[in-house]
Amino acid sequence: EKGGYKHFMLKEIYEQPRAIADTIAGRVLEEKGEVYLEGLDLSATELAAMEKVFIIACGTSWHAALVGKFLIEKHCRVPVEVDIASEFRYRDPIVNERTLTLLISQSGETADTLAALREARGKGGKVAAICNVVDSSIARESHGVIYTHAGPEIGVASTKAFTTQLVALFLFAVHLGRVRGTLDQAQGRAMLDALVTLPRKVEAALELDGAIEQAAREYMGARDFLYLGRGNQYPIALEGALKLKEISYIHAEGYPAGEMKHGPIALIDENLPVVVVVPHNDTFEKVISNLEEVHARGGRVIAVTDHTDPGLTEKSDAVFMLPKIIDELMPVLTSIPMQLLAYHIAVLKGTDVDQPRNLAKSVTVE
Ligand code: F6R
Repeated sequence: EKGGYKHFMLKEIYEQPRAIADTIAGRVLEEKGEVYLEGLDLSATELAAMEKVFIIACGTSWHAALVGKFLIEKHCRVPVEVDIASEFRYRDPIVNERTLTLLISQSGETADTLAALREARGKGGKVAAICNVVDSSIARESHGVIYTHAGPEIGVASTKAFTTQLVALFLFAVHLGRVRGTLDQAQGRAMLDALVTLPRKVEAALELDGAIEQAAREYMGARDFLYLGRGNQYPIALEGALKLKEISYIHAEGYPAGEMKHGPIALIDENLPVVVVVPHNDTFEKVISNLEEVHARGGRVIAVTDHTDPGLTEKSDAVFMLPKIIDELMPVLTSIPMQLLAYHIAVLKGTDVDQPRNLAKSVTVE
């Protein structure tokens, strides 16, 4: 059932091109620049009337939510607040009938996320969910649902569920932008044209596997890791750090690259590997200067980028080169080396990759 792979996690990492293609299939009207989301069950009029969006989730799904904020604020011009379900549910959030609360949950059974849903619904808000498990509690109790078509995820560490959540959020943002009139047909079409190229770019990203395994050998002995990113890559830095701690038991932190000088820079020495997520976007130069700060202090830089830059190569111990895609979809590609690095380090350390200690696939208790 592992299809020749050593672990479910690796199998699921490799299933991503297919899982993403399935999540896109039948939902994209490329010519019209529109998205069709069966099951969303919120009319264009209702969606256009929303004045505020909450995106609520736990763990890896919360990282997807943080990426979703960038997509929706940029393309739909509506304020988005992201919160962790166990925080949201206890703080008497300000929700009314013009608030859309989007819950993200792979299992659809996470207790805190379900409670957050009930909190938002109880206050009269509209509620939609992004779920992987069909007919799960969160899917059933929401006004509308967008399913990710990742297929069953067995490995406790979420991989294909996460990248398909990013795809579902992208589809939702294009849909919302089109119905709110903040995206025109040509803009919608350009975004969808990029989306349909994503599965084969993920496939290309997976070709980094061998090089990442090499790097894993080199860095597996480290006691701590730091992950840095800016903007929509900051959540990927968080996700990289979470993957590593979950399955390899190495302490890791994700930080917005610009915050490094406000504290974590004190940790940097020759024993600290720093994974820097630095695609060629508007903040490229900013992240490069953060990378230089790490290098200057003897930190070992592992760069994840889509751009050949002599300065970057010179100051990095390892560079993982990804294909190019629009910035909105780049978080899907940068997720791949995060998953593979954590996976290979865990395998080398001999941990139980699919069933890490103390963790459950579905957290149905508070
Ligand atoms: C991390 C991981 C967890 C889950 C979290 C939420 O790899 O698997 O952090 O993401 O427990 O689970 P769902 O998405 O099922 O609500």
